[in-house]
Amino acid sequence: DDPGIDPVAVAREAADAIATATGVERHDIALTLGSGWGRAADLIGETVATVPASDIPGFSKPALAGHTGTIRSIRLPSGAHALVIGARTHYYEGHGVRRVVHSVRTAAATGATTMILTNGAGGVRPEWAPGTPVLISDHINLTADSPLEGATFIDLTDLYSARLRGIAREVRELDEGVYVQFRGPNYETPAEVRMARTIGGDIVGMSTALEAIAAREAGMEVLGLSLITNAAAGVSDQPLSHEEVIEAGRAAEAELGALLGEIVTRIR
Ligand code: 6GU
Repeated sequence: DDPGIDPVAVAREAADAIATATGVERHDIALTLGSGWGRAADLIGETVATVPASDIPGFSKPALAGHTGTIRSIRLPSGAHALVIGARTHYYEGHGVRRVVHSVRTAAATGATTMILTNGAGGVRPEWAPGTPVLISDHINLTADSPLEGATFIDLTDLYSARLRGIAREVRELDEGVYVQFRGPNYETPAEVRMARTIGGDIVGMSTALEAIAAREAGMEVLGLSLITNAAAGVSDQPLSHEEVIEAGRAAEAELGALLGEIVTRIR
């Protein structure tokens, strides 16, 4: 976040540190594991190396329980090398958008050409029960911020790759929805959730959109997956609590790990 430092240069340093720590020179695919998706790290392939994110330049200490704070190199059954990022910096932490997208830029600098972004999020559609995984088809970024600086007028049509969504739907029938990134850390009011629905949103969360933009800027193909951990405020009569969000994630974790494992083996 120092304006004098080039974020791509810091990502390059981080990628070099990952290559040294893991012994893997080049990764093919990267995954950020959000709430509910952590077990995937154990289920998608053979772990080659696990590195505390705090050992890698540009990564901050994990802010939340449930976010493991490690970076793993995993060899997939296909032979591809996956970089699994279990250390997400959220925008609401207030460290600035450069910190938020550093892991994505680092993934690109390790060579990854595919970025899989996962999260736990609130459902705007009442038919999505807690525990339902949903493909992200597009997003609405309500942070009023962007990871891009200067005159980088990039096209975000097809930001969430139709090709990769097709691959995911070959594994399992999955609904799709538009993800709305709010700043957080508070959950939305019922009026904000009604607004999200009115403007075309289906999923409300506090991550992913800014990261997806950075991934596209870096030339990566993006797949986004949300676990619906709860109905958003006003959608059901259930009150929201962070504990329930974490619990819904835990309950779905084995299934989500298996789903991601099948998706990544089909990507090339
Ligand atoms: Cl309801 N809103 C947001 N912004 N993030 C969430 C959520 C709701 N449920 C889980 N994560």
